[in-house]
Amino acid sequence: MSIAIISPGRDVSSWVKSFKKADPSIDIQIFPDIRDKESVELVILWQHPKGILKEFPNLKLICSMGAGVDHILSDPEIPITLPITRIVDPGLTVPMTNYVVMATLNYQRQLYRYQSNQKKKVWDMTNPELEIQVGVMGVGALGSDVISKLKMLGFPVFGYGNSPKTDTDYPYFYGDELPQFLNNVNLIVCMLPLTPRTENILNLDFFRKCNKGTYIINVARGNHLVEGDLVTAIGEGIISGAFLDVFRQEPLPQEHPFWNSDKITVTPHIASVTNPNSAIPQIIENYKRIKDKKQLLNQINRILGY
Ligand code: GLV
Repeated sequence: MSIAIISPGRDVSSWVKSFKKADPSIDIQIFPDIRDKESVELVILWQHPKGILKEFPNLKLICSMGAGVDHILSDPEIPITLPITRIVDPGLTVPMTNYVVMATLNYQRQLYRYQSNQKKKVWDMTNPELEIQVGVMGVGALGSDVISKLKMLGFPVFGYGNSPKTDTDYPYFYGDELPQFLNNVNLIVCMLPLTPRTENILNLDFFRKCNKGTYIINVARGNHLVEGDLVTAIGEGIISGAFLDVFRQEPLPQEHPFWNSDKITVTPHIASVTNPNSAIPQIIENYKRIKDKKQLLNQINRILGY
């Protein structure tokens, strides 16, 4: 029995090292050098070549290498009966929250303005703080942590999700209540899973429903955002700017207009990168659970797509 890591183009040596440290008895095979496909019962995937899983006749479990599973579900040849798990881990949650807090404070305290003023030797003390009401879209493990930390910092925070919830300690909206949610906020953090329902959700129609001057932070997926619509909305002054970590095409192409926008901050999909040392124990635990036919940790619902 062995585990295959399929993540083309990514250096997975730290994963192999962490596996060896956690349990030296586990056989690890790395794509494209898979020695024995028949022995593979668990695969760890990140941007795998579509259709490849049919080459593994004894596969029992598919694990995402990260929090998102859209890269797996977008493969039409994923065996329908196999369970899929994702990573839920403080090693992923804390960096994500820190990134969102950093981007929120950067905007609220307008660091980008002082950086630009410093270059011009301008001493401008006007409007040192913006009044911000934060709207977090997606209130799963990552979104909930962002909400609680931003609340701790004193920000009014509102949540938006897919299903009803009664146990939140913040105002929560779901489904068709999007316009009411948008009405309450002027900074939006997109942390939604990417599903057919949420793809392209950040579009011109959405921006036109926002309060004038709303700021956008996207740490979810590039395909949530219609990038041309953001440029239009910023041009029209509906949206004041954006802090983006994810893009429709990554790396962001050299000719992309986001690079040169003084209203958009670009980071290269680094908001939160899975830490193998802290993520591997749950994969090993699931590896045991498939053998023992026990309920898996962090299994996703295929119908919901997260
Ligand atoms: C990163 O984008 C992840 O899904 O973990």
